[in-house]
Amino acid sequence: MVALDVVHASNSRLRELGPGLVALFVGGTSGIGEFTLKAFVQNTISPKVYIVGRSAPAAERIIEECKAINKDGNVEFLQANVTELSEVDRVCKEIEKKESKINLIVQTQGNLTLAGRLESPEGIDRKFTLNFYSRMRFIENLRPLLRTATITAPHFSRTLSVLSAGHGEGKLDFDDLELKNNYSGVRCATHTITMNSIMIEEFAGRDPGTTFAHSYPSGVNTGITRELPVWARAGFALFKPLLLPFLVSVEETGARQLFIATSGIYAPLKPAGLLASGVPAPKGMEIMDGVDGKVGSGAYIVNWNDDIATSKILKEYREKGVGKTVWEHTMGIFERVEKVNKLRAEAYSK
Ligand SMILES: NC(=O)c1ccc[n+]([C@@H]2O[C@H](COP(=O)([O-])OP(=O)(O)OC[C@H]3O[C@@H](n4cnc5c(N)ncnc54)[C@H](OP(=O)(O)O)[C@@H]3O)[C@@H](O)[C@H]2O)c1
Repeated sequence: MVALDVVHASNSRLRELGPGLVALFVGGTSGIGEFTLKAFVQNTISPKVYIVGRSAPAAERIIEECKAINKDGNVEFLQANVTELSEVDRVCKEIEKKESKINLIVQTQGNLTLAGRLESPEGIDRKFTLNFYSRMRFIENLRPLLRTATITAPHFSRTLSVLSAGHGEGKLDFDDLELKNNYSGVRCATHTITMNSIMIEEFAGRDPGTTFAHSYPSGVNTGITRELPVWARAGFALFKPLLLPFLVSVEETGARQLFIATSGIYAPLKPAGLLASGVPAPKGMEIMDGVDGKVGSGAYIVNWNDDIATSKILKEYREKGVGKTVWEHTMGIFERVEKVNKLRAEAYSK
């Protein structure tokens, strides 16, 4: 476990990376995303931050709070429902118009739902899209900007997906990776968690100047239950006092996720400069093992306490070459959805 004072000390050194870091927080309007964003704004010089989510009132509140935290920060809200990839593409185009580089992408979009498979007009499940396809699409679309960050001082380029690394990877149904026919909430969780962990390694192999991380935040007291039916929320509220002692605070989680997003112990495979690995490793700490078990391989699965997580099934899947399968599936879904959206746009314009 990385001690919390070490985490705070590292985060406060983020200023050493200089002014003008650009960051995107998808799911930054609440909970873990909101508090990671605020920790980022607090510890950086003149940051440019994009928040993506649906709730404009929440974004307005956070923008005001960020002004009080750092008057030189610039926080902008891009409203979108990212259960549809066309919305992800629209937001990315907005960012590309304004930025030539992006230093950090943190993704926490998610919800708790008891609903079954809910297919969007794009032909894929909305929950699966929130947890997986939207996250991969943001990274894939913005890879050119992440790459530009690796060749622009301070050469710092990162992505972090907060879901459940090391706590939920399991067997994939290779006949139905998108769970069109065999959907259940549990299978959706298993597939999206496992595929997040596999894809960070695929991305790291293709972009060695960027760190790709997937983390587990532990139980955190956030707004995650807000989309559950009233009876389920009432039940949850009843048990909450019993759970509270076991939950990690949003402030601690925000600090710890920012540490994962910026510390040099999670270095990219091939850092392109002195600060390219982020904040130098705390005294006495070394660069961590990547998900493939090799030191500093650029893709990390990280536990809530900033230790490296482990997963047996990922090792088995690596040996079987499942990374290629999941990569091709994901790119295949992107192509299929692009075709669907083209047809929808043509039909709409008639
Ligand atoms: N809290 C925990 O104990 C816990 C434990 C393990 C894993 N996690 C995972 O951590 C991640 C963050 O959870 P959290 O606890 O911070 O939840 P949260 O407070 O509910 O935040 C979720 C964020 O996702 C955004 N979001 C949800 N649906 C969206 C949509 N359709 N389009 C765009 N944005 C959307 C929400 O913004 P809008 O409402 O503005 O759209 C909000 O900003 C989730 O993936 C969750 O599964 C959480």
